[in-house]
Amino acid sequence: MFLGIDASTQSISAVIIDPDLGNVIADESVNFGAELPQYNAPSGFISGGANGEVHTDPMMWLDALEMLLTRLQGNSQVDLAKIKAISGAGQQHASVYFSSTFEKALTELDPKRSLSEQISPTLSRKTAPIWMDSSTGEECLEIADNVGSDAKVCQISGSIMIPRFTGSQIRKFSKESPQDYAATACIHLNSSFLASIIAGNQAPIDTGDGAGMNLMNLSKSDWDQTLLDATADDLLDKLPPIKPAGTFISNISPYFVEKYGFSADCQALSWTGDNPASLVGMGAAEPGQLVISLGTSDTLFAAMDSPLTDPNGYGHVFGNPLTAGNCMSLICFANGSLARERVKDENNLSWDDFDTKELANTPLGNGGKLAAPFFTPETTPKLDSNQLHTNGWDFSSASDGEKVRATLEGQFLNIRLQSQWMGLNPSQILITGGASQNDGIAQTIANIFNTPVRRLTSTSSVGTGAAIIAAVANDHSYDNLTEAFCVFSSTITTPEAGAGIYDAIIPEYKEFIETLVGSNPVE
Ligand code: XUL
Repeated sequence: MFLGIDASTQSISAVIIDPDLGNVIADESVNFGAELPQYNAPSGFISGGANGEVHTDPMMWLDALEMLLTRLQGNSQVDLAKIKAISGAGQQHASVYFSSTFEKALTELDPKRSLSEQISPTLSRKTAPIWMDSSTGEECLEIADNVGSDAKVCQISGSIMIPRFTGSQIRKFSKESPQDYAATACIHLNSSFLASIIAGNQAPIDTGDGAGMNLMNLSKSDWDQTLLDATADDLLDKLPPIKPAGTFISNISPYFVEKYGFSADCQALSWTGDNPASLVGMGAAEPGQLVISLGTSDTLFAAMDSPLTDPNGYGHVFGNPLTAGNCMSLICFANGSLARERVKDENNLSWDDFDTKELANTPLGNGGKLAAPFFTPETTPKLDSNQLHTNGWDFSSASDGEKVRATLEGQFLNIRLQSQWMGLNPSQILITGGASQNDGIAQTIANIFNTPVRRLTSTSSVGTGAAIIAAVANDHSYDNLTEAFCVFSSTITTPEAGAGIYDAIIPEYKEFIETLVGSNPVE
């Protein structure tokens, strides 16, 4: 059996799979806010940070890990001694800072004491900035300037300088607390930190999560000295090596053998980031499929053969955790479900209207009435906005059908437009997240991409992806694993007749977006 751990923002979860039987043996979760109230982090982070700072206490992750393992131990379906290998996936970009005492503490973990009690004294920075932190705009500008331009950073690392990515966070720490930075011997991501704990040895960072730092050279799958020099002094000495996800680190730490009953032969493998693991857990780690996750914000990702980068600088390119040397894209759209909900509520519409009712009253393409529903500042394209924009028609006096169609078509035309740089021609689009259950939304996506759409029915794609990575590292075939563990609904939504019309609308939509944003966002 294989254990995949999903260390996300609000909770830590475990998925155990048995590839021989094709069964999920356990899917357990510990919620930080509800179960560790002493950390005062109801949503997984410390609230009230100044100037966009969002940090968390990394010891909360360790306490939660122990609660999770205790829960698995008490589950009568689970025998932890039968776990052959463990991998995992962490929320991306979060960084944890340790003094030189960390390495020794890892090898000397005493099962009679808690992990947090033993690891806490080794921190050189008490809190960890996480992906929600937006406090490093200044450092992003400085690093881009040191390298030459944002376009150059993007060419090397797969993304322009992004405040939540780790490089600018490290620079800010080195500027604000130079002594603590100097006393830092090792900087981990959430993923490599927890992998180190499980192994009882320093774990590498993988190419999926490592690419979310603005420090890795994407085509070399290694740290980039130009980026390191532009970020902070002596950085190479403080970073773990980069290795593919699923690399054997060591056997599991004796701490977990004695305390939780794992076998001493259980393999501790390197981890990846949550989005790369989700690509694997959705069965989309090989090129040819596109995943759209419909949540508070919408996210698109897809496996890619070559490390192309977004010329506009909106999208990110990470390493593909399953295929060493290959890549995946990730594009975040800030205006997702909340924008859909806003149009529904402000116009007294129901989800039924969004489903099929109102869409049925309007033609594909909405008679040329286009919209960009950017109620909060949009990341893709980058636009400071608090409203829905139209290409010159009055939204408020339009029919309900036109409003619904303009909103949905606007969102998915934007997603198609902003993913064109990847040059994909997917055979199918996989959708997941709350809004994927809405038939009108699924149909609009199928039409706009003129491609069949399938919905994922299982919900734990990150933990499943991590367990699959552990199984693949032990010679199980990815095809067999996806067949058993990536479960899609049997219905496939096919494009409606006339969906080819969107090929002609895309250039019009591009022009509309360019008038809003300007045509050359990356300098
Ligand atoms: C991706 C990102 C988030 C985190 C948390 O760039 O910031 O998706 O991985 O889930």
